[in-house]
Amino acid sequence: MSIKPILYENNVLKMIDQRLLPVEELWLEYTDYRAVAEAIKTMVVRGAPAIGVAAAFGAAFGAREIVAESYEAFSVEFEKVCAVLGATRPTAVNLFWALDRMKRCADAHRTLSLAGLKARLIGEAMEIAAEDLRLNRTLGKNGAELIPDNARVLTHCNAGALATGGYGTALGVIRAAVEAGKKVAVIADETRPWLQGARLTAWELQRDNIPVTLICDNMAGHLMSKGEIDCVIVGADRIAANGDTANKIGTYTVAVLAREHGLPFYVAAPISTIDLAIPDGSHIPIEERDRREVTHSGERQLAPEGVAVRNPAFDVTPARLITAIITERGVARGNYGVELKKLATKDK
Ligand code: MRU
Repeated sequence: MSIKPILYENNVLKMIDQRLLPVEELWLEYTDYRAVAEAIKTMVVRGAPAIGVAAAFGAAFGAREIVAESYEAFSVEFEKVCAVLGATRPTAVNLFWALDRMKRCADAHRTLSLAGLKARLIGEAMEIAAEDLRLNRTLGKNGAELIPDNARVLTHCNAGALATGGYGTALGVIRAAVEAGKKVAVIADETRPWLQGARLTAWELQRDNIPVTLICDNMAGHLMSKGEIDCVIVGADRIAANGDTANKIGTYTVAVLAREHGLPFYVAAPISTIDLAIPDGSHIPIEERDRREVTHSGERQLAPEGVAVRNPAFDVTPARLITAIITERGVARGNYGVELKKLATKDK
């Protein structure tokens, strides 16, 4: 069983502190929406679908605090709670998707008593979490067919169980291929500067006995040129209507390298990551993070004091470099503008 990084037990949200992995497995507990917002911002929890799940519980906790005489008064306060949660990280659309879903749920149950409404919102957050786990398994099966037996698969960042409600998207495809009896070896990019590949992907694959080899980000091209990689699979933080895909910084570089070496480059993501409201990747907001992530490794200073730094946390891979986009409702290829819309509006 792959790890579930977010648990809801006895009215408490428990999240494994991803900042400390792989050295320490510490579970933090949350009952306050402000603390959940802080956990998203500081990356206790990270990965697009996991951020969405955490935000849904945050919204439900915020609702729990509201004292209001009418649904209208409740709704004004609930908007404020969602705004705090929505201001944490800008790129992963799953955050906004989850908050919208919580607001729609509140609206749909406006006639309930205040206590009933609050209970329903906790229920909705639980459903979002359970659904994410379920759909990752389906997505995994859809993608497993694309992974050949004995494949050596490169992945970037962590799109695994830790980044979701469990099982993972890109790593979910790998898990499903392994469960189908295929031999798969994963090459994990370390993913500077936050090291999601080294710290998280390597940890969760090792834990599940899936062969994994860690490389520095700048080694991928060399391994491809030596014929040591058969395909690439990554997750996504936001996919525009035309298929342009934002994912962890460095993904674009890997996609260009894959094209140069004639290797398939797959994106695995749930439908909730598709943002049909934006036509292309130029509209995706890219988070810039603290300069210290680049100048330091933990407490150790790596760069001279005062050096100019850029630290964009994501980049956009143009749709033309993507061989296929794997979702829980099927695999899109070719004309993503048409195919993604079909999948996103298809009956579940
Ligand atoms: O900054 P992070 O760690 O939240 O970024 C995560 C990624 O870029 C993942 O690849 C993406 O969210 C997909 S997770 C299934």
